[in-house]
Amino acid sequence: MPSSFKSRSAPPKASAMVEALRGLGYNTQTALADIIDNSIAAGANEVHIEFIWAEQDSRVLCLDNGSGMTADGLDRAMRLGDRSPLQERSAGDLGRFGLGLKTASFSQCRRMTVATRGSDGLQTLRWDLDFLANSADDGWHLLEGPHPGSEGFLERLASTTGTLVLWEELDRIVTPGTTVQDFLNLVDKVEQHLGMVFHRYLEGTRPRLRILLNGHPVRPWDPFMTDHPGKPYNPPVFKHPSRKDIEAECHVLPHKDMLSPADFECLAGPEGWTAQQGFYIYRNERLLVAGSWLGLGTGRSWTKDEAHRLARIRLDIPNSADADWKIDIRKSTARPPVYLRDWLTRLAEVTRGRARRAFAHRGKPTMLGNRQIAEAWKVERLSDGMRYRIDTEHPAIRAVLDDAGSLLPQLKAMLRVIEETVPVQRIWIDTAENKDTPCTGFDRTPSQEVSDIMMVMYRNMIERKGYSTSAAKDQLKQMEPFHAYPALISALPDSL
Ligand SMILES: Nc1ncnc2c1ncn2[C@@H]1O[C@H](COP(=O)(O)OP(=O)(O)OP(=O)(O)O)[C@@H](O)[C@H]1O
Ligand SMILES: [Mg+2]
Repeated sequence: MPSSFKSRSAPPKASAMVEALRGLGYNTQTALADIIDNSIAAGANEVHIEFIWAEQDSRVLCLDNGSGMTADGLDRAMRLGDRSPLQERSAGDLGRFGLGLKTASFSQCRRMTVATRGSDGLQTLRWDLDFLANSADDGWHLLEGPHPGSEGFLERLASTTGTLVLWEELDRIVTPGTTVQDFLNLVDKVEQHLGMVFHRYLEGTRPRLRILLNGHPVRPWDPFMTDHPGKPYNPPVFKHPSRKDIEAECHVLPHKDMLSPADFECLAGPEGWTAQQGFYIYRNERLLVAGSWLGLGTGRSWTKDEAHRLARIRLDIPNSADADWKIDIRKSTARPPVYLRDWLTRLAEVTRGRARRAFAHRGKPTMLGNRQIAEAWKVERLSDGMRYRIDTEHPAIRAVLDDAGSLLPQLKAMLRVIEETVPVQRIWIDTAENKDTPCTGFDRTPSQEVSDIMMVMYRNMIERKGYSTSAAKDQLKQMEPFHAYPALISALPDSL
């Protein structure tokens, strides 16, 4: 250090610093996910989380069967800022900042004890925020051993390697008025969140990880419903042209009409259908961001809306790109680097288009084989917006126009009136309010009524246009809205 620099030591006051770090914005779910990240990095394949209700003496503990830490390792693990975020990490490490264990724990409790059994046998250290607050010297007093009365918890590490994180004095979880029911509701939220964040670790017949929450295994939640037969599109994996370690899979989920009520409810996810659309960013297969358009867009940034709620894009990034993505300490935000924005925007545009169509058509096909289904409406895009026109080539409309004779001008006027008065705003508001498109395409119409209308078309094609019965049926199969009823078409009589 050149002597021309004058300096003084300026360490933070321990108590003030730690109290301030409590406000990083974790909740119980995200805090526990941060603790489990460490267990995974330590090679654990089983993590037990327990919520122990005892009013003001309630506790939360997290026990893993990872490799544990040495005495020196634990000492360093308890310190804030022992390891720089700039340091390179092994490929499977879910950490980055050297802070998560402490910041996540302090966000939920005033006393955090870590016991570990590694190659040096059982070691225990603890931070107690009340002890720091009551120390006159503002020092960083890392306490040794468990708090008197909590020794029993260490027995869980009696014979195996692993690490136990114990939260006591849960002042952010158990506040005045908190009931056992509130505590149990929180356990449900935690279960949902962990099932989502770690779903790729929990999936499969031989999962890499089991998380047991009060003894019950946490089930994985797959945001993409991989392999569901009702999905309009099953995507290939897209690799970035130059960054081969970045991969995307663009999923469009099945429309509600294609799902059982239980699947529909489950696929909605912890935050609901609209909130869970967009990119899902995984870092080393651990979910960081569960649905966001990442500030991307063509012109304006895309917002989450009903029409695109079926779009979910899986994006895999390695931990070596943390600085580029501006990962935060909580592992819950990530911002795409400039060099990826165009590529991501293109992927999102295509996926959003497909998702929009699936939503508008309520998941019904718009193609039969490689032939386009004849639609009754078309969209005309103008420089300053769009308008909706009846497609006069749709067979149901063409048939009437062809036979209209002197009524043709009146019929055309009628169609024009219908086109000019499409209740667009009304449909738009109703869709937003009901979170779904209004019923169309004979939804909720008795089959007999659909068959009767089909019969009019069928008879017209055979008797006036000279179609064979099989050709007429083929036509109906390619024509909106009858294409959604192939069984009713097949049941039409073969002779009239
Ligand atoms: N369950 C555990 N088993 C083994 N080692 C652990 C465990 N928890 C923490 N450690 C050790 O403690 C260190 C500090 O953990 P901490 O979560 O504070 O920071 P980090 O994981 O390195 O980075 P980040 O702040 O991004 O989480 C880890 O790097 C790891 O070496
Ligand atoms: Mg960590």
